[in-house]
Amino acid sequence: MGPRNTLPAIDGAAYREAMARLAGAVHLVTTDGPGGRAGFTATAVCSVSDAPPTLLVCINRGASAYPAFQANGRLCVNLLAADQRHLADAFGRRPLEERFGVGTWETGLGGGPLLRGALAAFEGRIVHRVPAGTHDVLFCEVDALAGGGGDALVYGFRRYHAVQAEAPIAEPRRPERALRAPSPALL
Ligand SMILES: Cc1cc2nc3c(=O)[nH]c(=O)nc-3n(C[C@H](O)[C@H](O)[C@H](O)COP(=O)(O)O)c2cc1C
Repeated sequence: MGPRNTLPAIDGAAYREAMARLAGAVHLVTTDGPGGRAGFTATAVCSVSDAPPTLLVCINRGASAYPAFQANGRLCVNLLAADQRHLADAFGRRPLEERFGVGTWETGLGGGPLLRGALAAFEGRIVHRVPAGTHDVLFCEVDALAGGGGDALVYGFRRYHAVQAEAPIAEPRRPERALRAPSPALL
């Protein structure tokens, strides 16, 4: 008998604890259309392919924003910059009706709610939905791009972190030492 049949079942809390160590980029996933405007904070976003440009988003079927994504058939992924963590809180915790009161919103080429100042924004059509556990995996074919610049926002160990767009190159304090092979005493 292989390990599949002998390993004890893992409970959800232990799984979430381990996953809390997986640091990931933070996004506001938004939609607009016949089902109304809606959005939520998500880390479960992943690139699938560049031909055709395709990404995936995992959404909890119990989320208040879920019916709008079902009805509209389109979504927009707004990749948050480091100075936008208040938006991650708003779209993760505030009631749906209040979320778009935070931030500056524009209409993208594909009609989606685009967040001004996002590092990147990907708009597209939901081409495939796969139910998995409590969530649906939404596959989205990207047909419009937008974006700005700035540092990145990452969520890991249950808090937000800023990641510099370009790390400055550290100046050696004493240049003559930098030219020699570093000795253990200098490290
Ligand atoms: C940092 C962060 C990441 C999240 N990632 C996801 C995610 O990937 N998928 C998801 O369905 N919900 C995710 N959520 C939860 C949703 O943003 C939201 O809180 C949840 O859908 C409950 O919303 P509701 O109160 O409108 O039902 C995340 C929340 C936070 C704060």
